[in-house]
Amino acid sequence: MLQNDLILRTLRGEQTERTPVWMMRQAGRYLPQYMVLREKYGFFERCQTPELACEITIQPVDIVGVDAAILFSDILVVPQAMGLEVQLVESQGPYLPDPVKNFKDLVRVRVPDVQETLGYVFEAIKLIKKELNGRVPLIGFAGAPWTLLCYMVQGKGSKTFDQAKVFCYTQPELAHQLLQMITDTTIAYLKAQVKAGADIVQIFDSWGGLLSPDDFETYSLQYIRQIVAALKEEVPTIIFAKGAWHSLEEMAATGAQGLGIDWCIKPQLARQIAGNNVTLQGNFDPAKLLSPIPVIKKEVETMLAAFGPGRHIANLGHGIIPNVPVDHARAFVDTVKEYRHK
Ligand code: CP3
Repeated sequence: MLQNDLILRTLRGEQTERTPVWMMRQAGRYLPQYMVLREKYGFFERCQTPELACEITIQPVDIVGVDAAILFSDILVVPQAMGLEVQLVESQGPYLPDPVKNFKDLVRVRVPDVQETLGYVFEAIKLIKKELNGRVPLIGFAGAPWTLLCYMVQGKGSKTFDQAKVFCYTQPELAHQLLQMITDTTIAYLKAQVKAGADIVQIFDSWGGLLSPDDFETYSLQYIRQIVAALKEEVPTIIFAKGAWHSLEEMAATGAQGLGIDWCIKPQLARQIAGNNVTLQGNFDPAKLLSPIPVIKKEVETMLAAFGPGRHIANLGHGIIPNVPVDHARAFVDTVKEYRHK
């Protein structure tokens, strides 16, 4: 039994005593306790060792008091399991030495047995659930097929992911074949996360906003829709497609219980587009956590008032920035917890 099920009740549309709160990328470099483990172990070693993943997942629950834990892992463990080499290069980010360029490269990519290739994630989830002991729910996650294709084709981070787009626009059949393979892997992966104990799953489409509304449907949403359909009877799902606010109505129609939004759309407009039957999550500008604490408090209150009571999970509009002081992150969380809607 969960002692704190505020997020689950909010996703079901129930009125709660206060707005729940967590932060994207809450398990990470702004926490000195994370940096200690980062000194000792490599990134994927931290992901692949259930005891380490468990400890890192629980750190923000203990230190900043969020209303949910999110599994410490990465969206790029899926391309790894599908057969591509993925490295994390210090101060540069993800690097895939042999990205997918043409049909010959697709031979190296497979829909894997997730128990065999990602079993360490499920072991971590079981351990986390035991350690959390019902304090807060655990959010599992995966990257959206489009965002994973971006890395699998581009081979590294990019502001525009132009090579990934060119791949889609010039070899659409190949692109759809790859997107379907990622989708099939992701469905099996998320179902196994739920079986291991994840209470909620979030789909991260960090690069969804790079596509036009039509291309977002073609290369992203039709695959997310399959994932949500496969999961929605089991646990609530949250879609976070950064920058793709134009499609909030279509995203709500997938049956997802939650939709993440970034800070570039007004909460009132997001609500108008998404309709009243879905919970919105967001949308504090992560850079604002570098403001003085009184400014953070004031801005968080403005955000909460704009969303109004119910059907809102307070969060950042994207991941927390590494140089945020811990007391600023705590001020964000505490302001939400103390706020009461008039
Ligand atoms: O949110 C959490 O606390 C859970 C863990 C989590 C990580 N990555 C850990 C991580 C989650 C949910 C992710 C998702 C992820 N990974 C996304 C989607 C969300 C987003 O931010 O847009 C993307 C695009 C990635 C790919 C990725 N992984 C990048 C671009 C980077 C490097 C950039 C960066 O922030 O350092 C990573 C590495 C990564 N993933 C770190 C962490 C804590 C930093 C690793 C380190 O240097 O210690």
